[in-house]
Amino acid sequence: MQKLIIDGGQPLKGEITVQAAKNSALPIIAACILTEEPVEIINCPHLRDIDAMLDIMRHLGCQAEFDGDKLTITCRDIALNVINNDLTGKLRSSIFILGSILSRCRRAYISRPGGCEIGLRPIDLHIAGLKSLNVQIEDDYGVICCDGSEMAPATISLEFASVGATENLMMAGVLLDGETTIVNAAREPEIVDLAAFINAMGGKVEGAGSSVIKITGVKKLHGCSFEPMPDRICAGTYLAAAAATGGNIVVNNIVPEHIFSITDRLRKVGAKITVRRNSARIVMQERPRPIHKLETNVYPAFPTDMQPQFTAMLAIATGSSVVIENLFENRYGFTGELVKMGANITVRDRVAVVHGVPKLFGATLKASDLRGGAALVTAALGAEGRSVVYGVEHIDRGYEYIERVFSSLGANIRRTTAF
Ligand code: UD1
Repeated sequence: MQKLIIDGGQPLKGEITVQAAKNSALPIIAACILTEEPVEIINCPHLRDIDAMLDIMRHLGCQAEFDGDKLTITCRDIALNVINNDLTGKLRSSIFILGSILSRCRRAYISRPGGCEIGLRPIDLHIAGLKSLNVQIEDDYGVICCDGSEMAPATISLEFASVGATENLMMAGVLLDGETTIVNAAREPEIVDLAAFINAMGGKVEGAGSSVIKITGVKKLHGCSFEPMPDRICAGTYLAAAAATGGNIVVNNIVPEHIFSITDRLRKVGAKITVRRNSARIVMQERPRPIHKLETNVYPAFPTDMQPQFTAMLAIATGSSVVIENLFENRYGFTGELVKMGANITVRDRVAVVHGVPKLFGATLKASDLRGGAALVTAALGAEGRSVVYGVEHIDRGYEYIERVFSSLGANIRRTTAF
């Protein structure tokens, strides 16, 4: 167990490069099951969620080796072992591995993912979509048993544009004989990246990034070398932290349109943002201005994964903001920790009212989920005095050495063992 010790109040200054996207690398790793040949993932971030996905891959008989930042995965033979609770419990999104196993092996067994700290996260859309592809599914005391021996392509209309369900079904269709169409598909950039990866292996996926995706089945895929897209949520987190500390930083390795909804809101709070081809500079010389209404929704709207960090930044705004969380039912757990720092936030269901205060003060804090943890770090960096953040393992799920990134921007932050 580790903790972060942060002495706040230092404006962030300097230049950083954003890691590759966790939410892109995870489905890409799952998609490696679609080929027997080795696949190289370049600049793969070292994250707890990636480790959890690699544990699942190894459990299925795949080989996965890091050489520096290059990850090589070979899935020559797949062992159809049950992916049990110990594995799915560490990574909720493990459910989307079903699609690639079924496409390749026509059978799969996985424990139902358990509860989640930010919401209910049901898997009904995944199951309904796979059933549309004629997969027979039974729940055997919590183990989802999938028989895809009669699998066939189909047109699937998603009730809601779920990111994970879209990825799962895209992978499921890759090795089927014929055309699978996903209607009301999610349009997140990570879906486009997954399609590019599948196509780099010789697959035929068209329309990713729009709400209709067509997958034309192929007989076989081959290995390839692929670099996942930059992490738009990490980029947004560093920009929000710069805004919360009155900083002046350059964030390299971004795709400007991926983070438009974030930079747009940062301009609204008073930040000066200069965007170049693959970098952005933020200069913040005043306390943030409030945002009348900050509402999360599916891409290209403002991302739910940035809501906590923005709520933390708005805690020191010059007025009151209203935050509306439309994606997850329970994503305000971190606000109780911000209140310990002097924030004035009231939450009711999916709405948080944030009355800005002139400053926050250091406190002992506990992260209980990934982005909530990033919000606590954001608040602590801007606060007066020392904060100690426990629960760093949640932050390590998605940020590669977060303390190194912020130290390189002049923050006083270090990691030590927690007792
Ligand atoms: C992905 C991201 C996560 C992000 C989320 C929304 C990964 C690994 N994770 O998660 O960081 O916060 O997109 O942008 O890429 N839902 C159902 N039934 C289902 C599936 C989803 O009701 O079968 C609901 C969920 O409970 C949630 C909403 O749909 O309320 C969005 O979920 P989804 O888009 O599936 O998110 P994930 O793929 O889990």
